[in-house]
Amino acid sequence: MVDVILGLQWGDEGKGKIVDYFAPNYDVIARFQGGPNAGHTLYVNDKKVVLHQIPSGIFHPDKINLIGNGVVLDVVTFKKECETVAAMGVDYKKNLYISERTHLIIPTHRALDKASEISKGNDKIGSTLKGIGPTYMDKTGRNGLRVGDINNNFKVEYDKLKAKHQQMLDNYGFDEDITQWENDFFEAIEFLRGFKIVSGEYFINQKIKEGKRILAEGAQGSMLDVDFGTFPFVTSSNTISAGVCTGLGIAPQHIKEVFGITKAYCTRVGSGPFPTELHDDMGELLRKTGNEFGSTTGRPRRCGWIDLVALQFACMINGVTQIIMTKTDILDNIADLQVCNSYKVNGEQKDQVPFQMNNVNIEPVYKSFGGWLTNISAVDNFSALPQKMKEYITYINEFLQVPVKYISNGPGRDQIIEA
Ligand code: GDP
Ligand code: IMO
Ligand code: MG
Repeated sequence: MVDVILGLQWGDEGKGKIVDYFAPNYDVIARFQGGPNAGHTLYVNDKKVVLHQIPSGIFHPDKINLIGNGVVLDVVTFKKECETVAAMGVDYKKNLYISERTHLIIPTHRALDKASEISKGNDKIGSTLKGIGPTYMDKTGRNGLRVGDINNNFKVEYDKLKAKHQQMLDNYGFDEDITQWENDFFEAIEFLRGFKIVSGEYFINQKIKEGKRILAEGAQGSMLDVDFGTFPFVTSSNTISAGVCTGLGIAPQHIKEVFGITKAYCTRVGSGPFPTELHDDMGELLRKTGNEFGSTTGRPRRCGWIDLVALQFACMINGVTQIIMTKTDILDNIADLQVCNSYKVNGEQKDQVPFQMNNVNIEPVYKSFGGWLTNISAVDNFSALPQKMKEYITYINEFLQVPVKYISNGPGRDQIIEA
């Protein structure tokens, strides 16, 4: 049996916290896509930790964590992260497995990411510059190196791939010295040899056969999906529930619950369309109250109202069965809340996400709600939540036709309420 937790917006919905919260109900927690572009924040014994590569179940000592084949792995980031969690008392080697089919991010992938962004001038994607796009390009272009390759003539294959990249970098006129990156990379490859490198697909299917419970942890968000997001301002993987099948080697009939996470408002980091973005004091207030700065890059996140057109689309594409709403406490002091329930595209009313969103005048149509103006961060049961908040949530439930089953009212492990 496999359940999925994924983001329904443009990332940073609170996946790390929610996976950590649900982990006790599962045997295996598996990442199926993305790489160190992800930044998943958890609070463990009141200490903040941000995970980029390791699944968010790592702080539960009896749980297996798997980095699936659909992930792209930066071994340098991975090594650092292992050291961070070790300092917090985690015996990471005990229960952490890596698929041999996972593609490796090599230093020239990162250089290419940077060179590509520079070449775009004013049309930058706003990439995290972690080498994600170039690594997935090498996977689909059938050039990449995988974790299982580290034992097969690795240096020779590495040099061949690097030579290809060098030609591209020369075309871009990129001439930064990457010697230090390479030294770190090869040191981290040695570190990787100490891990349980497995056939992820046999491993996980055996667990399913044994009746174990699997939790697939998404990275990024549905609106950043390479097929269904706001292309080209997207990431380079399938962030949606379908990605679980290809990213872990799991057949679709094994997937049961799809938990979709949305903030009570909306954020985006990087460039690209964001219909409900607020450029005014309210946007600034959300950023400040919500501490909306990137977990991976520290960039200020763009903030706006919740967008039900995009959320309905994400629920449809993912087959979401339950919604988890996070950061509801950030709206505590706002008297007038807005919920976008349709778009006006070039003056015409639309209730679907349009093909072309970039350089198009998309005006959000809002329904207003009175705010609850109550501090809810200490509330621990649904009936004690303010009536105005229940009205806000009920409207969203009815609009999306998917129940909001959990409400997160603070970053802490236990700040979550079942509806
Ligand atoms: P992820 O990438 O989806 O895991 O999300 P991030 O970790 O990048 O960003 C979410 C941020 O919101 C983190 O700093 C979390 O600690 C924090 N957070 C998660 N849920 C809540 C919540 O309900 N309330 C508040 N105030 N913060 C939350
Ligand atoms: P988590 O898992 C928010 C965004 C980048 C950029 C675009 C492409 O923490 O939610 P990439 O580096 O993937 O080539 O960048 O995608 N992006 C994210 N935004 N949260 C993330 O991950 C993101 N990962 C990538 O800002 O706009
Ligand atoms: Mg994040």
